[in-house]
Amino acid sequence: MSGQREQWTSGAGFVLATIGAAVGLGNIWRFSYVAGENGGGAFLLVYAICVVLIGAPIVIAELALGRSGGGDAVTAFETPAGPALWRRAGWIGVAGSVAILSYYSVIAGWALKYFVGGATGALWTTAAAGYGAYFTDFISQVGEPLAWQLAMIGIAMFVVAGGVQGGIEAANKILMPLLALFVVGLAAYAATLPGAGAGWSFLFVPDWSVLARKELYIAAMGQAFFSLGVGMAVFVTYASYMSRETRIPRSAAAIVCGDMAFAILAGLAIFPAVFAFGMSPEAGPKLAFITLPQIFLQMPAGNVMGSLFFGLLVAAAITSMVSLLEVPVATLIHRLRLRRWTAVTLVGLTVFVLGVPSALSYGLLEEVRIGDGGILDFVDQTASNYLLPLAGISICLFVGWVWDGRRAAAAADLAQGLPATLWLWLLKVVAPATILLILFDSTGVL
Ligand code: PHE
Repeated sequence: MSGQREQWTSGAGFVLATIGAAVGLGNIWRFSYVAGENGGGAFLLVYAICVVLIGAPIVIAELALGRSGGGDAVTAFETPAGPALWRRAGWIGVAGSVAILSYYSVIAGWALKYFVGGATGALWTTAAAGYGAYFTDFISQVGEPLAWQLAMIGIAMFVVAGGVQGGIEAANKILMPLLALFVVGLAAYAATLPGAGAGWSFLFVPDWSVLARKELYIAAMGQAFFSLGVGMAVFVTYASYMSRETRIPRSAAAIVCGDMAFAILAGLAIFPAVFAFGMSPEAGPKLAFITLPQIFLQMPAGNVMGSLFFGLLVAAAITSMVSLLEVPVATLIHRLRLRRWTAVTLVGLTVFVLGVPSALSYGLLEEVRIGDGGILDFVDQTASNYLLPLAGISICLFVGWVWDGRRAAAAADLAQGLPATLWLWLLKVVAPATILLILFDSTGVL
């Protein structure tokens, strides 16, 4: 491969890094709160359908496009000859990554606060009034949420500045397997809580009546996009450092299965606890932050376990932040010839400034309501439910229609015949049509 371009050290290193991008706060914090708000089992089913029909083909498309593009997100969309408008589509990912990072770093900051609180003991001693109060106390301040957000951005910047092999890959290799082990242990422990069965049935036994709610579909699709991490050209960017030998379909399968498994395991840790402790699954974005510490409080050696868990959650958030950060950074390096550190600093500062309203949205800016939620809820919902699916459509149509089908399938390592045809039709018709249908339905156009 080209001498001057960075590469992953191995196929396994690449797959771990992409799983690191996919698995993050989306699987634990977001999955539990969105599934909780949307009735559990039936949501899980619609979410899984969206992952398979829409998410998986786009993961493959992003990987194929990225490896062939041989550069950053913007360049990848310019490489296959196509109409001028399409050639700009890469910028959606660049702008979108910055938008997502702005509030993602805020939630990641909450996790860091819990990690440090767990390690120093503050998280365990102030729990008398319950974690609802602990969370509200923390989040209603001005300096604290901002400081933790800034700290998380700083750490992610540091990793990205280290480059592909030294920074991104090294961090993922250690952290992802550890986190997996931990979530399995936590789910097993939660199963022993009295009343855990109610949590299991909430997650697995669909209450069909919720299928009548329009919001369920857009929430499930948004969650599929967000959790996989597709739409923002993260996989396009990561695949540009991927070797020819790594097989794309196999990598995509690992990403999709790994991501789903993490979400379900997180659900198995959180929902039994929600019901065992008599909480409501509809608590919204704070759900994981008020239920998880409660589990640890009850658990033997819970303070050690809890600190470790929040430490790993921080790590999972970092690996996702790093992937989002790498999209604009790679573009700035490649297109504007900036040095890596300069690009990282520029993007990091922008992300922080844009994230300030989200960080303050449960405190100083609490009065600002958009729809039924505050600023952070609004940015989170808009990014996942609208921005990512629209960006997803552009990738589907670009790879499905603009790119030559044979070449696209070959670039994706898909054999001619059924696999290639199936994938192309999912991209050309099924995925974009489903996305549009859900979007129109939720906005009331249909
Ligand atoms: N998938 C990541 C998570 O679950 C977040 C993410 C979104 C990453 C969009 C990349 C692109 O936390």
